[in-house]
Amino acid sequence: MESALDYHTAEALLTWQVELGAAEAMLDAPLNRYESPKEAPKPKKAAAQPVAAPAAAPEVDAAAEAKKAASGARDLDGLQAALAGFELCELKRGARKLVFADGNPAARVMIFGEAPGREEDREGKPFMGRTGQLLDRMFAAIDMGRDVPLSKDAIYITNVLPWRPPQNRDPKPAEIAMMRPFLERHIEIVAPEMIVVMGNMACEAVLGQRGVTRLRGTWAEAFGKPVLPMLHPNDLLRQPRFKRDAWADLLSLKARLEASA
Ligand code: URA
Repeated sequence: MESALDYHTAEALLTWQVELGAAEAMLDAPLNRYESPKEAPKPKKAAAQPVAAPAAAPEVDAAAEAKKAASGARDLDGLQAALAGFELCELKRGARKLVFADGNPAARVMIFGEAPGREEDREGKPFMGRTGQLLDRMFAAIDMGRDVPLSKDAIYITNVLPWRPPQNRDPKPAEIAMMRPFLERHIEIVAPEMIVVMGNMACEAVLGQRGVTRLRGTWAEAFGKPVLPMLHPNDLLRQPRFKRDAWADLLSLKARLEASA
C-alpha cells in the first residue's frame, strides 16, 4: 500500500500513538469509528395484543384502618401487637424498633412525649439518653418515677408516635392524625387519672392545639381527663431558663394529685 507519509513522519506518528497507550494493532485495515453506523435490522414487532388497563388500587383510608386495628386491642400487649402489625405509616419503614411505652401501667399519670429519637429507636424505649435523664430527674424532684413500684408515685411514659422519623424530621400532620386512634386506645386501656403532654406535638395530638409556651401550666381537658401541657425536656436542654416554668408545672401536678388522692 502506497503511503502519503514519508518514513520519518510515519514513525513519529506511531511513536506518539504508543505513548498514548495504543501499543497493539487490533485490525489489518484502519476502522473509521466516526462513520455513521449501518442500520441494524429492526426486530419484527409482535402483533399488538389488546392490553387490559391495570385495575386502580383501591384507596386506603389509613386513619380508618388505624382505628380498626386499635379498637380491636383488648389490653396493652394487644395494642403493642396491633401497632407492630400496622403497615400504613411510612415512619415504620425507616425505624429500627417500635417504641411503645415504659413505666408503670397502673400509674396515676400518663405522659406523652413526641416521637423517639436515635437512642430510643435503638433501645425500643421512650425517653432514653440526655432527654430521658432530664425527664427522670424532673419527676424524681416530686418523688415520682418510671421505676417506682407504688402506682401512686409511678409514671407511665409513651409518645405520640411510636417510630422515629428519619433524621428526626418533624412528623407530618397526616402521620400524627393517622396514629391518633392508637393514642386514644392507649389512654382508654391505661385509664390514667391525669395526662401530661410534653411539647408542641403532644399538645397538638391530645388537645388539638399548638403553642406549648403559651399553653404550659394551664390545665385543660381531653378524653374526659385533666391534661397538663408542659415544655418538652428538649426545650429545657436548649433553653435552661425555662426550667423555672417546668418546676412550677411539676408542683401543680403534684398538688393536683395530692388533692384528689
Ligand atoms: N423525645 C420524645 O418526645 N420522646 C422520646 O422518647 C425521646 C425524645
